[in-house]
Parts: sequence; C-alpha cells; structure tokens
Amino acid sequence: MKQTSLNISELKNLSKEQYEALYLLSQTLNSTSQKETLIEKVVDILIEVTNAERGLFAKYDSKTFQFSLLSARTFKKEKISDLSTFSSQVLQQVVNQNKPILYHDAQTNPKLNQFESVQLHKIKSMLGVPIKKDEIIWGVILVDSQTDRKEFTDKNLLFLQFFSNLVSISLEKIFEIENLFDENLRLKNELESIDKIPDMIGNSKPMQELSKTIHKVANTEVNVLILGESGSGKDLVARAIHKLSTRKNENYLAQFCGSIPDSLLESELFGYMKGAFTGAAKDKKGLFEVADKGTFFLDEIADISSALQAKLLRVIENKEIIRLGDTKVIKVDVRILAATNKDLKKLVEEGKFREDLYYRLNVFPIKVPTLRERKSDIPLLVKNFIENSTSENIKLNPTALTILENYSWPGNVRQLNNVISRALILSSDGMITKEHISLDNEQNTLDSSRTLKELEEKILLNRLEEFNGNKTLTAKSLDVSVRWIQKKMKEINSKS
Ligand SMILES: Nc1ncnc2c1ncn2[C@@H]1O[C@H](COP(=O)(O)OP(=O)(O)OP(=O)(O)O)[C@@H](O)[C@H]1O
Ligand SMILES: [Mg+2]
Repeated sequence: MKQTSLNISELKNLSKEQYEALYLLSQTLNSTSQKETLIEKVVDILIEVTNAERGLFAKYDSKTFQFSLLSARTFKKEKISDLSTFSSQVLQQVVNQNKPILYHDAQTNPKLNQFESVQLHKIKSMLGVPIKKDEIIWGVILVDSQTDRKEFTDKNLLFLQFFSNLVSISLEKIFEIENLFDENLRLKNELESIDKIPDMIGNSKPMQELSKTIHKVANTEVNVLILGESGSGKDLVARAIHKLSTRKNENYLAQFCGSIPDSLLESELFGYMKGAFTGAAKDKKGLFEVADKGTFFLDEIADISSALQAKLLRVIENKEIIRLGDTKVIKVDVRILAATNKDLKKLVEEGKFREDLYYRLNVFPIKVPTLRERKSDIPLLVKNFIENSTSENIKLNPTALTILENYSWPGNVRQLNNVISRALILSSDGMITKEHISLDNEQNTLDSSRTLKELEEKILLNRLEEFNGNKTLTAKSLDVSVRWIQKKMKEINSKS
C-alpha cells in the first residue's frame, strides 16, 4: 500500500513521548477490528497526546465534498454530537492541502479569526490530519484547544504524518475485514434464501421454485395436494412440509391408500372397537387419532373407494372420526397432505372421484417436477447416491454422465437411484463407466425397433428379465395371459 512520502529516517526526529504515543496508537489499532471503536480511540489518543480539549473525526465524501461526524469527544471523554461546533473551513483546508496542518494562535491569525466557530469557542490552537483510503482522503481528524499549548508545535507535524499513516493503514484493514464480513453475510443469506428442502437434492430452477412453494405453504394450515410422476419425490415433499411446519414436533403419519382392501384401509385410518368385525379382539386407535395435532399424509389418494372418500370428507370438514363399531365422535386436529400420480381432475370428470373431496384436498396443489425437467440436477443426485451407498471415492466418467443426461427417466429419481446402485456393484477401479449403466430399456426399445412384432418381442424379453423370468408376474404386468407368453416364447426360440 502506498502512503505519503514519509522517510523512515525521519523517525529519529520524533521525541520520546511521540514515540510512545505512536506505540500506543499502533497497539490500539492492532487490537481493534471495528471501525467505530477504532475511530473513537484514535480521537482520544490524539486529544491526550496533543493535550487538546476537543477532538473530531469527520468523514469526508470526495464526491459531494461534504463532511459528516463520525466521532467527536472532549478531553473528559464526553461525546460531542454537533459537527458545526468545529471549524468547517479548517477541515476543508486539510483536504485541500492533503497533509497535516497546524495553527497556533488562531485568534490573531487573520486566516482564521474571522471564522465563526473559532470566535465562538475561543479557539487558540488547532491541528488537522487527513486520513486516506486508497490515496483518497476519506476523513479528517481535528483537535483544538482554547489555550495555546506547547504540544501544538511544528515538531508535531512530523508526528502527525506518522499518526495519519498508521490510522489510514488500519482503517483500510478494517474496511477489508468489514467488506469480507458483509460479503460473508450476503453469501450466507443467499444460501439460506435458496431455502433448502430437508433431504431433497437439487439446485435447478424447477427445484428452487418447488422449494419456495414448500416454504410458503408449510407454515400455513391448508391441505396440500402433491402431484407428480412416480418416483419424482412426492413422499419427500410431504415430509418436508411437515418438517417445516409449526406441527414439526408432533406426529407425522403416512398411509399408502393404493390397492389396499377397503375394509383394511378403513380400520387402519379410523380404528375400531372390540368385536366390530371378526378378528377385532380389542379396541384399536386409528391412525388419524394417533396423528392428532400433527400431519397426515394420504399417499396415492386416487385409489380409495367412494365409501372411504365420503368418510375422508368428514374428517376434513368436521375434523372428527368415528371408530368402526362405535358411535362416539372423536375430535381430531390433523393437517392433511395427499399425493397422487394420477390425473385426479380427470377422475372427477369421469365420476370416479368425489368432486367435493377433490376441492377439499386440492386447496393448494404442488407439482413435483419430473427428473427430465431438471436434468441439471443429475450430477448432484448421482454424487449423493454414491456417497450414501459407499465410503469409497467412486466417480462417474463423462460418457456415463452423458448417457444419464440423455435418458428420459420415466421412473424419475427412484429409477436413477436404482441405476446407480446397480452401476456401483458392477464398477471397478473407482469409476462408473458406460458399461456399468443399464437403463430400463423400453424407451430405447421403442427407438430401435422396426416392426410391431419386433417391439412386442423386445418388450416381452425386457419384462421377463425385470421379473427374473417369472411368467405369471410378467403376464400380469403386460396385461396378457401366461399362455400368450408361452406361445410368444416358442416363436422367439424357434427363430434362434
Ligand atoms: N430431490 C430428491 N433428492 C434426493 N432423493 C430424492 C429426490 N426426489 C426423490 N428422491 C428419492 O427417490 C425415491 C422416490 O421418491 P419418493 O418416494 O418421494 O417418490 P414418489 O413421488 O412418492 O413416488 P411414488 O409415486 O412411486 O410414490 C426415494 O428414494 C427418494 O428418497
Ligand atoms: Mg410415494
């Protein structure tokens, strides 16, 4: 840092007291990391060293040419809060001359004695020191006295040069620290404003939007309908809403409602009394009761029967349940979250889902983005899946990443997780390459097949592989008979 042209050899011209004062100053400057404290201390030291009565540290704005008060003190360490009690003309002269200046006997000095503040405060001696930042005057320190003191001599000018330099250097340091501190706060704030969703990975735009929505809705009491393809993260969203809500310390319960017999689901949700049905050996609380004051997540809501839909409506509208086989009404205070990967609106139009329940659940819909809408999150997700499954440092090579990024991910994040789990088993030498990536290939099959027959065969073989050769499960998943599969297999085998 370049400072004014002070020659070190001039140090020998300082008096012992001045040396001591500089030493004291440098100690103060080194131990202070806040601008405000430093400025006050500097004023006090200068008042003491020069035996002055008042001291001022004024900030100078080199753009507007204005001074403003940073700290002003008396030798009794009292605060002065009025800048105008100091001579603005002398402040200006320090700036103009860009070096320390000293006036004795201001009352008889024709340059000064016409100044109002000099007259009013009967100022006799005054000295001013410029304080610089990046070679530009940033402030001025001024001390004055009503008596002409011996310390206010020309000899002091040299001392003041050193003084000014020391203060300037430490102020620059403090500015740097304060800037870093501000920058740190800004970055921290930025990080926080990205609003992490618990356990959800992803920085892409759709995920940031999702995060904002979740944070907004979490602290309300409204029911939320979470929509999105299978494996996109609906469960995680439901959990996140609970974790970020005021109910976070209460119970969170989830019930999968898809393909479960009606009576079983009903007894799970609402509970029952002893003897309500065969096998009801004792009273049992329902899950809604257990979730009282907390959150209840109804997963795959589209599949529930119309009888259960009516009962759910009652829970939502009246906040009450009746156990199976009972007549007593039990009040429950639960926040309902529901999810589906089906088009619920369409089911309403087809008369398969109650419209009133739909509107009750759909107070606030949240659409979870598919993985193909946020492919930029793939590297981060992969890194996380690897770290969660092994402590080894396994990397994904660029070709393998390109394959993942070009795929359409019908099974979303769950599918990506499975693909990485398989790749980790196959990988060697700490690297996942394209040979280790096996995608569920129906999409690829579609791309490469020429005829309907070819397509049929490829889908069948893929599906058989998926179900480890189990023909019954394969037939079920393709909605064909086992006999059809046997016939096709014969055809395929006879070709090869
Ligand atoms: N953003 C994400 N970050 C990390 N893991 C995720 C993310 N989204 C989903 N997952 C993981 O993917 C898997 C599937 O997620 P989840 O069960 O929430 O999906 P879903 O939408 O409920 O699927 P389904 O409709 O089949 O119930 C889980 O293992 C989950 O931890
Ligand atoms: Mg789910």
